[in-house]
Amino acid sequence: MMRTLLTVALSGCVMLPITAAANDDRTQAYIDQLTAMGFPAPNENQLVHIPPSMADLEKADIHPELKKVIRRGYDLFTNTQQLRGKNVFNNMNCSSCHLGEGRMPFSAPIWPAAVTLPGYRGKNGHVNNLEERIAGCFTYSMNGKPLEYGSDDMLALSAYHQWLATGVEMYPKQPIYGRGFPAPERPAELSYVNGEKLYQKNCAVCHAEDGVGLRIDGHTVFPAPWGDMSNNWGAGIVRLHTAAGFIKNNMPLGQPNSLTDQEAWDIAFYMDSQERPQDPRYTGDVKETAEKFGPTFHKHSMYGQVRESDGKLLGDHDNTGDKPFLKPDTVRSRTFD
Ligand code: HEC
Ligand code: HEC
Repeated sequence: MMRTLLTVALSGCVMLPITAAANDDRTQAYIDQLTAMGFPAPNENQLVHIPPSMADLEKADIHPELKKVIRRGYDLFTNTQQLRGKNVFNNMNCSSCHLGEGRMPFSAPIWPAAVTLPGYRGKNGHVNNLEERIAGCFTYSMNGKPLEYGSDDMLALSAYHQWLATGVEMYPKQPIYGRGFPAPERPAELSYVNGEKLYQKNCAVCHAEDGVGLRIDGHTVFPAPWGDMSNNWGAGIVRLHTAAGFIKNNMPLGQPNSLTDQEAWDIAFYMDSQERPQDPRYTGDVKETAEKFGPTFHKHSMYGQVRESDGKLLGDHDNTGDKPFLKPDTVRSRTFD
């Protein structure tokens, strides 16, 4: 039953039986690989999609000009630092959080956005298209300024997202297997002290004791989980459950699912209780901002809360890191009233 559904989900269009069988095997091998890494198998109802790789692109029967555009999008996604000082003001690449070049399940693979948008987004309270979703990660995760809508680079980046979704139907009815950073169940108690200990033991070797990561010759080797060179307070990963899911599924690098749920949450609690650049939606008052965006966002973060270890009010500052402005002017609301 599951195999049949997976084949249907994968093929998306007309498939000869023999191809369907081959696809079936390929999907099963893919799932076997993931379960061997500790990830859950898909349930019967879920859509499993294996995004194409850059090697597949070379073989693909599409116009050479389109290949160039997709290659450029891939290049921007994995080396976003080339936009530093213009669109990116921290040490991140898109691929710093979206592992496997944006293809890895349980690491917020990016292709689902291409088949579920335009759609309503609670975070900004209006209908977003793919470009605006990408702009969101520039604004918050890259502490930056989105690429201009319709620009060459925005076209390239969105083409890369869309191409990864090759073969998936628009607005699929099935839930998508491995979408986002699914969080383990939240334990009853979270420990900052334990989180700090675990971070120093398991993470500091790459990300540094003080969370600055490592940068060599203008190239990010290990990104910064907090501080001026990290994502700002408005980024999805400052929500504890998102950070816990990211950590459990992806870190330490190369050892997914090696931490217990409690450990992943404690580290997330510690990491997300450190300072970082101001939320671009800042009104000038941290309490007011936390309240205004509480229901749609900050109820899951430590922003505007007092850190117990030293009594610090988190997010109470005007620091925008390396970014010479607070809010990019592209961030606006829409209404069709
Ligand atoms: C600091 C970590 C981080 C960085 C860097 C980052 N993102 Fe994201 N991204 C996230 C998080 C968190 C989500 C939300 C996942 C969820 O909903 O669970 C997300 C979601 C997305 C989605 C939507 C995926 C879906 O399932 O609909 C897209 C598309 C996306 N990011 C693109 C990008 C692009 C393009 C860049 C670089 C310009 C980027 N991201 C950089 C953390 C990051
Ligand atoms: C062996 C080195 C290594 C170890 C150990 C490691 N990471 Fe990472 N981490 C990376 C790399 C590299 C990336 C970026 C992924 C990429 O560029 O492919 C990353 C990305 C991240 C990110 C997203 C980007 C950012 O900086 O916010 C977070 C958060 C993170 N790691 C947290 C942790 C935590 C927590 C631990 C410990 C449980 C940990 N890492 C252990 C290498 C490591």
